[in-house]
Amino acid sequence: MFCSVLFLLLLSLLAFIAKGRWKCQGPGPCGSKTLPSPRPLPLLGHLLELRRKDLPVRFMELSRRYGPVYRLRFGTQDVVVLNTTELIREALIKKWSDFAGRPQSYTADLISFGGKDLSLGNYTAMWKIQRRLAHSSLQRSLRTNLEALISQEAQQLCQDFLSYGSSPVDVSKDFSLHTCRIISSMTFGVLFDKKDPEFQVIHKCIGDVVQLWSSPNITVLDSFPFLRKLPNASLDALMQAVARRDAFVKHQLEIHKETFQPSEIRDISDSMIHFLQERKQQEQTPAAAGGEEFDEDYIHMAIVDLFIGGTETTASTLTWSVAYLMHHPQVTFYPEQGLWCLDRISHGRAF
Ligand code: HEM
Repeated sequence: MFCSVLFLLLLSLLAFIAKGRWKCQGPGPCGSKTLPSPRPLPLLGHLLELRRKDLPVRFMELSRRYGPVYRLRFGTQDVVVLNTTELIREALIKKWSDFAGRPQSYTADLISFGGKDLSLGNYTAMWKIQRRLAHSSLQRSLRTNLEALISQEAQQLCQDFLSYGSSPVDVSKDFSLHTCRIISSMTFGVLFDKKDPEFQVIHKCIGDVVQLWSSPNITVLDSFPFLRKLPNASLDALMQAVARRDAFVKHQLEIHKETFQPSEIRDISDSMIHFLQERKQQEQTPAAAGGEEFDEDYIHMAIVDLFIGGTETTASTLTWSVAYLMHHPQVTFYPEQGLWCLDRISHGRAF
């Protein structure tokens, strides 16, 4: 609380000092020629937008006013927001390598051994190796009996939902728990019990890291470096969650290394350990040639990426799907076929 008040006072002071010196270098209503942008606040830019609880709705509102591509400014950083599926597809899929670079970020580096990470790291030779490894390990794990595991998990999920009866429920937690169990099984070969304390710790860490890292108290550190010197309870909480996450992943990797057999690759961790061991045996590694070494940190962070990238994305996609279904009851889900269908029969039309 004290930290927030101090922070606001400090920002007001800086805004006051900067008054008159602030020039809108941005486009749109501010007068420049590139991307449209709402008028920014002095110094803060659009940082306060991030405090809004209804951020997705707000982004949609802004896209109606400024078009499908607009620009926001967080402190000194510009952020381009894409608002249609086609544009997002174009940036992330069709022209993915054009957009593969990532800017240096203080907070991203803090939680990823200095950017040795797939989703937060820059587009470097090491990143390409890490990505190839993550994809091939994932592909290999898909060859196991994943369908049976997912069906069994889906059945358990249905039972959990039925057990709530007619009481209100936050479905996102169950979606996230069950997804996390599947990904744990693929990554570490362990199907944790939902009540297992170790599993609960890692599951909570995933949520905490995502939530804290994207919170305004942390995001602001990327835009205003001087704030990094001040006490920040959110940053402390984030670093504690990251420490728990790392202890869990390290522990799992140690167990895997102790029992590793090259002839029997059991899961994603084994695939990654295998790759690292083979690479170390090669005489001309980049390290030997004077370049950067592809070390265990990259494997560690690739596992974290699978966990966080796989769990929260899937859980929020499912949660949003339920939200859409509630608002569009004419759409029906047929679980047996895994199909979403527009139920036009009720309106007297075949589909
Ligand atoms: C509905 C579910 C999912 C959505 C919406 C989703 C979305 C995305 C998006 C948009 C990216 C690109 C991010 C960027 O370019 O920075 C990405 C990357 C990634 N996702 Fe997912 N994802 C989903 C499920 C999964 C699952 C189940 C896994 C693994 C078990 C996974 C693992 C990854 C990894 C490792 C990356 C980074 C590597 C790369 O760019 O190829 N994702 N995901």
